[in-house]
Amino acid sequence: MYTILVANPKGGAGKSTLATNIAGMLAQSKQRVVIMDLDKQQSATNWLARRPASLPKIMSWTEETDMEELRAFAPQWMVIDTHARLRRADRTYLLSRANFVLVPVNPSVFDIEATAKFLIKLHQDTNVQSGKVAIGLVGSRTDSRTRMAQELNSFFQRSGLPVVMFVPDSVVYPQCARDGVSIYDLPKARTENQLEAWQPLVDWLRVQMAKLRAANAPAQPMPERGVVEIA
Ligand SMILES: Nc1ncnc2c1ncn2[C@@H]1O[C@H](COP(=O)(O)OP(=O)(O)O)[C@@H](O)[C@H]1O
Ligand SMILES: [Mg+2]
Repeated sequence: MYTILVANPKGGAGKSTLATNIAGMLAQSKQRVVIMDLDKQQSATNWLARRPASLPKIMSWTEETDMEELRAFAPQWMVIDTHARLRRADRTYLLSRANFVLVPVNPSVFDIEATAKFLIKLHQDTNVQSGKVAIGLVGSRTDSRTRMAQELNSFFQRSGLPVVMFVPDSVVYPQCARDGVSIYDLPKARTENQLEAWQPLVDWLRVQMAKLRAANAPAQPMPERGVVEIA
């Protein structure tokens, strides 16, 4: 099972939007996906509850999940949506489990400042230092024509970390959230621009997975329930 951790200590950074759309993208690619939702607000879990039954199945992993059913589902991917107050021990644990960490950041100086500190903590993690986990930065709600988008991009460049994509600011994301769908579940005519913007993430994941396969990275079993705090 490959694990994608979506994290940023700033509320409203676009974590749940990124996590749910990645889950939808993988499910539409015929992958079996489980979402682990660590946020007490349960945005991703509630999104899943709204997901139409006609769409490819995504499982959630909560206190109530039937573990037998989850094991039978045999997820190939786990997407972890986190909350803003990850404890250090939880961060360390999650980084030891993750193959990929995606950090969404809004084009705003408050968000950039909060994320800068978080990136330093990520850099200090042994699993990140050893290269076991790949980090990717994602610009959230970014209109590339704006000055703030340029400032976000130069912050990304200074960090030295890979910039994976910029998600455009679009009403389609809150609409998807409301309807329990991802941009990958909508008619292509409606989401052409968005799919184009997301293609770099798809390509990045492909490259990272090829690296994992080449390194013969062992498959991770599912983590125990209750090992990290839901806050
Ligand atoms: N690319 C986007 N375009 C427009 N609205 C967005 C976009 N990304 C996120 N949002 C909206 O911004 C708000 C915060 O996003 P959310 O994913 O819930 O952040 P987090 O999980 O980090 O708190 C939500 O209302 C969401 O619908
Ligand atoms: Mg959230």
